[in-house]
Amino acid sequence: MPGRAFITQPIPEPGPTLVRQAVDDLRSNSEDRVLSRAELGEAVAGCDAVLCLLTDTVDASVLEAAKGCRIFANMAVGFNNVDVAAASRLGILVTNTPGVLTEATADLTWALILGVARRVAEGDSEMRAGRFPGWGPLYMLGGDVTGKTLGLIGPGRIAVAVARRALGFAMPLLYHGRRPSPELDALGARRVPLNELLAESDFVSLHVPLSGETRHLIDAKALGQMKSSAYLINTARGPVVDEAALVSALKSGRIAGAGLDVYEDEPRMAEGLADCPNALLLPHLGSATHATRAAMSRIAGENLVAALEGRRPPNLVNPEVWS
Ligand code: GLV
Ligand code: GLV
Repeated sequence: MPGRAFITQPIPEPGPTLVRQAVDDLRSNSEDRVLSRAELGEAVAGCDAVLCLLTDTVDASVLEAAKGCRIFANMAVGFNNVDVAAASRLGILVTNTPGVLTEATADLTWALILGVARRVAEGDSEMRAGRFPGWGPLYMLGGDVTGKTLGLIGPGRIAVAVARRALGFAMPLLYHGRRPSPELDALGARRVPLNELLAESDFVSLHVPLSGETRHLIDAKALGQMKSSAYLINTARGPVVDEAALVSALKSGRIAGAGLDVYEDEPRMAEGLADCPNALLLPHLGSATHATRAAMSRIAGENLVAALEGRRPPNLVNPEVWS
């Protein structure tokens, strides 16, 4: 098919092959780095389709530069990196990759829950540094997981997958969301207002998309409502948490700890966070398994090809452009 596509960074197969088969001109950034906004704008000009990543800032200026383009297929479930309103105005389809990263992200959420409560990374550092003094009745005590209350903020697919795993740990479940979730209800979870969830949970886990409404949802006030023995877990998006307020809460012992996979200003961290021993810090690995990334690549590729072939992409986030 005549047409030009652009892939913003090297990604796993099969996405690139699917795209290559669909266009006669596939260009890609062969360097394993995020393009600057100017570079991105230049690269997308004249393209019919773009496969982009959550690290690409696809703002109105980039979309304007891509005028006439049919689709930006984002290889992520989150699409806060794309100005969807501007895309819709310009008639550009935007898609994401939901579903395929649900289980991997839920698994990693559990790695953080267990890891922060039982001080797994700290313990590993003790061993490597030769600081293990021998078993001691007071040595490196942490928090319990089994039987503790898990509060899920945002009742989407990932929250449901996290809740399913919690049954094995006999945890009472709370959730907060605008609408009831039949899946969470079926698992015995109780839907409660946010302040009640914050006050009653031993683990507060975030599963909301980033939007104007959820930015700094967890601020100093929300942290102040949590139990001092509770842990905050974030595998959603960094800006959902006021990271500077979190550092203060971790330093003062306002909460017991935090397990984080995402940050407000990636790849940077708020000042002081790295010095908090009660924070377990991962570098945005939620979907980082071989099979999950391949599935995300395939879905992004399929969305892109559908748009080029004039079919409605399966994972359209701005359906208003289609109708
Ligand atoms: C990962 O953060 C994603 O949104 O896919
Ligand atoms: C993401 O897939 C979610 O709905 O939580």
